Amino acid sequence: MRYEVTPDLITGNRMIDSEHRQLFDAANKLLDAFADSKSDGGKQIAQTSSFLKSYVDKHFGHEEELQKKNEWREYETHVRFHDQYKKTLAEILDKLPKDGPPSVENISELNLHIVRLITHIRTMDKRLGSYLQSRGVV
Ligand SMILES: [Fe+2]
Repeated sequence: MRYEVTPDLITGNRMIDSEHRQLFDAANKLLDAFADSKSDGGKQIAQTSSFLKSYVDKHFGHEEELQKKNEWREYETHVRFHDQYKKTLAEILDKLPKDGPPSVENISELNLHIVRLITHIRTMDKRLGSYLQSRGVV
């Protein structure tokens, strides 16, 4: 299964939407590394998981800057969600084995967390996107 930015996840903000695409790419690469781990001993897991983690940090930072600059009324709740999300993501990634395939629990925890992000995009990020559009920020 591949994660992708489907039409219902488009926020209308160019930067946010393109970063969401990169973010899903990073998640897909980590899941590919999971799939390859049976043959390569999990060699790509460390690199792809640290890339995903740093990309999430970077993207959330950009979204937060944009909200602050445009005085978005949900800024504080949004940042609170981001902070909690990053914390849980780090916990999930820290649990991944260093030298071999992930467990079924590892895989399902990560997938569930990605689904949480999709719900976040569909709700909070889309509200933000409409607000930014109403201010002419696209
Ligand atoms: Fe967000």
